[in-house]
Amino acid sequence: MKRGLFITFEGGEGVGKSTQIRLLRDRLVTLGHDVVVTREPGGSDGGEAVRHVLLSGAAEPFGVAMEVMLFAAARNDHVEEVIRPGLERGAMVLCDRFMDSSRVYQGATGGLEPAFVANIERIAIDHVQPDCTLILDLDAATGLSRAQTRAGGAADRFEKEDVAVHEARRQAYLMIAATEPERCVVIDAAGGADQVAAAIWRAVEPLLGEVRHG
Ligand code: TMP
Repeated sequence: MKRGLFITFEGGEGVGKSTQIRLLRDRLVTLGHDVVVTREPGGSDGGEAVRHVLLSGAAEPFGVAMEVMLFAAARNDHVEEVIRPGLERGAMVLCDRFMDSSRVYQGATGGLEPAFVANIERIAIDHVQPDCTLILDLDAATGLSRAQTRAGGAADRFEKEDVAVHEARRQAYLMIAATEPERCVVIDAAGGADQVAAAIWRAVEPLLGEVRHG
């Protein structure tokens, strides 16, 4: 049976996810893999339609429960339209954020009950679990200042919070990694891009033997 590999990238703002996804994609393409690069919220037509509502802050007045359900609606469309079909044809699917972002942003630091977030997650992902989640770990102040430089002052709704919240998110990610060590790998994101890419490659290379391309 054809089966690709689903790798998600997680972490706070400014940890370098986009750069690392690009570097991993290039390396995998050079090796001849079929690679799909995607992101959340978004990644499919339905997901991108909801992305704007979430990141503009338009849903914020309606509360965090509303937001988590919108993230889940976007996620389910993305899973069914892009991720599952990619995996079924044997692609490597690299996704910038996935279910752990909801656990962290709406659950751990958003105040929603973990059981509530877990119920919604189950419906959103419908058994499409990441094979590997790379958690890029960086101290909150450094990540935040990198994100602010990148945004040039135009931070989105989720970037406009202070260092304490970012540090709490970092700790929530580390807790997920500790709870699910078979799925999650914590990557030290403090070094240069090449150093971080090398650490990511050490985590990904052993998984490539499982990929069955179409
Ligand atoms: P990004 O495109 O810079 O990663 O921005 C996405 C923002 O949305 C980021 O601040 C994290 C937030 N987010 C959530 O709060 N929950 C989620 O489930 C996802 C996917 C993203």
